[in-house]
Amino acid sequence: MPASASTTDERCAKVRGPVDSPKPIIQLEDVRKAYGQGKARQEVLRGISLAIMPGEMIALVGQSGCGKSTLLHVMGGLDRPDSGTVTVDGRAHGSLDDSALARLRNQRIGFVFQSFHLLDHLTVVENVALPGFFGKGEPSEERALLALDRVGLLDHATRRPTALSGGQKQRVAIARALYHRPAILLCDEPTGNLDSETGNDVIRFFQKLNREEGTTLVIVTHEERVSRAAGRVMRMIDGQVVDHEARQQESLAP
Ligand SMILES: Nc1ncnc2c1ncn2[C@@H]1O[C@H](COP(=O)(O)OP(=O)(O)OP(=O)(O)O)[C@@H](O)[C@H]1O
Ligand SMILES: [Mg+2]
Repeated sequence: MPASASTTDERCAKVRGPVDSPKPIIQLEDVRKAYGQGKARQEVLRGISLAIMPGEMIALVGQSGCGKSTLLHVMGGLDRPDSGTVTVDGRAHGSLDDSALARLRNQRIGFVFQSFHLLDHLTVVENVALPGFFGKGEPSEERALLALDRVGLLDHATRRPTALSGGQKQRVAIARALYHRPAILLCDEPTGNLDSETGNDVIRFFQKLNREEGTTLVIVTHEERVSRAAGRVMRMIDGQVVDHEARQQESLAP
């Protein structure tokens, strides 16, 4: 074949144009944040740049106080950095005012915390429907029941959270995070208050969500079993991400 002749692939590429490469769903560039003033000033995020692709499941690890929760809050728009850019779903947080950021957060991101933050004076289904009060339209009981069904707690819908076990409370909190079917789930030590079997159930559910629905997950954890279930481990030391380890995701035995 003459050197100048192009291959079929190259000719097809010319007709199609450049193939769109997938874009990160979360991107941070040189993100910095400090607390306190003067001598009490403490730099908590020290120039963090990272990219997370759609459908990744990431474990964010590091010693207590290294800045994991702060980083998660900044990624999710619960908090703003002092400098640097945070882009989620193609939208730069810095370009959004507080109410636009709150809308983006409510619609596209679910949060799950170690302590479940359920309201005891509401029923389980009312707790799950809470995100519906902060969007357009009316909260939907049907949507909340669907979310409860996904975590296997449909038959507990009319109970109060006080009548549930720790694992059940966390599943209600997860159902609430899934109410708007978010593309991204950000979890801060979601298994920290659970015994190992209940914690395994939660991790299995996260893997299912990740594999079957392509939900992007970032999970702050101190637990090795959670790291093993993730496709990438992001390690922080003193306000910096120092390591990204891609790994084969391990499925937990049922
Ligand atoms: N609102 C705040 N005001 C002042 N300092 C804060 C605030 N939030 C966090 N910090 C400080 O920032 C540092 C990082 O806190 P962060 O909660 O992000 O750590 P972490 O890695 O999540 O720790 P842990 O594993 O214990 O949850 C800590 O030294 C903490 O005391
Ligand atoms: Mg923390």
